[in-house]
Amino acid sequence: MRKHIVAGNWKMHKNNAETVVLIEEILAKKQANSTEIIIAPTFVNLATAIENTKDKNITVAAQNMHQAEGGAFTGEISAHMLTSIGVKTVILGHSERRAYFYENDALLALKVDTALKHEMRIIFCFGEELKDRQNKNHFNIVENQLRDALFHLSKADWKNIVLAYEPVWAIGTGETASPEEAQEMHKFIRNLIDKVYGNDVAQDLSILYGGSVKPDNAQEIFSKQDVDGGLIGGAALKADDFLSIVNAF
Ligand code: 13P
Repeated sequence: MRKHIVAGNWKMHKNNAETVVLIEEILAKKQANSTEIIIAPTFVNLATAIENTKDKNITVAAQNMHQAEGGAFTGEISAHMLTSIGVKTVILGHSERRAYFYENDALLALKVDTALKHEMRIIFCFGEELKDRQNKNHFNIVENQLRDALFHLSKADWKNIVLAYEPVWAIGTGETASPEEAQEMHKFIRNLIDKVYGNDVAQDLSILYGGSVKPDNAQEIFSKQDVDGGLIGGAALKADDFLSIVNAF
């Protein structure tokens, strides 16, 4: 059966000392819970995060990686570099990577292949913009994003895929998809995966919702049948808020 996951995407926040403090607070306050907790600090703080969460039931993820094995790519980080320090999960396709760094689904397909080759788990982000929803084109957009980046994968590859539906208009805006809108899209996604890969893959797949998830709306969103957790931005930067979202299942 699929897992419940709450992942904190720390984006470009928290220096090294602040990373240590936030992890300490999360560890001190976290209750026993079957939900998987993931934190994704910046690249420079990943090694610290790995060290400070050792044997603590918290997974550390990278926010991005390059598709090449290595080479002359100034400023970039490879899958091998991540796995060499113990990072086994990577977020790919975040809307901020798509919008500000021009990542498209063709590029993301390459990143996905590289991550899987290195036996990493991928949290794959996608979601429509406001205009797409206003034009009632959101289901098409989401289907195309998934098809172009992921539908070349084999059935077995899906064991290492977590999906994160993040409607762009809900990210960092305080505006969230209603629980019904989230459920409607998550069900659409699960049905699509069922059609392409079969019911076993679809039922085992964790589909997270992201976009202004906060302590006061998490419970209602997570109560929906096809919402298996959340990818949290702003609220992941405070231990109390993050843990109250973790405890919302
Ligand atoms: P917010 O929770 O700040 O809206 O960010 C969501 C997000 O982008 C997580 O990846």
